[in-house]
Amino acid sequence: MSRVKIGVLVSGGGTNLQAIIDAIDNNNINAEIAVVISNKFGVYSLERAKKHSIESLVIDSKKYNNIYQYNEDILHEMKERGVELVVLAGYLKILTPNFIKEYKNRIINIHPSLIPSFCGGGYYGENVHKAVLKKGVKLTGATVHFVDEGTDTGPIVLQECVKISDHETLESLKKKVLKIEHKILVDAVKLYCQGKLSVKENKVYIEK
Ligand code: GRF
Repeated sequence: MSRVKIGVLVSGGGTNLQAIIDAIDNNNINAEIAVVISNKFGVYSLERAKKHSIESLVIDSKKYNNIYQYNEDILHEMKERGVELVVLAGYLKILTPNFIKEYKNRIINIHPSLIPSFCGGGYYGENVHKAVLKKGVKLTGATVHFVDEGTDTGPIVLQECVKISDHETLESLKKKVLKIEHKILVDAVKLYCQGKLSVKENKVYIEK
């Protein structure tokens, strides 16, 4: 089976990107990362890509006065490299309807909660864990989903939960959830690359 070409969009440290890089290097995923694109300079994700001789680009969102041209330029880079699957790994910018249409059910996002809890506008990064701790829920976790036109509303691919202890701190919770993110993101990308994912009426089915 030929290797699936993946394009990864990043905005930060890139631990989720690293998890995919490691899984590919360990032959756990039959894919290649064709390009890593960041919306800003100086993020460690770019170093991670360079260390593994993966092409990386910065398409600086600050240089655009609208998200439409910004997304078209990213789309062009993805299509020019024959990218089949787009992975949002800690990526914080909005994707436009045209981008999502071009890559329908071929954009995977990792969110640090059990969607539909603690998701949507303003729920990203630490904000999610702060809201989880404030609410006092006993379980949280991470979700991998296909991206649709909403915010964190696309068909859910995988989820995994973690228990929250009475003395949980923001730092301890971040660490716990990030570990789960890495695990299920790799699992979801692997399932996609194996052709085992299908979507019917907004629900994901996984071939056994
Ligand atoms: C993390 O908060 C993660 O929950 C979310 O993006 C943030 C940074 O991830 N998906 P990464 O280390 O840049 O992959």
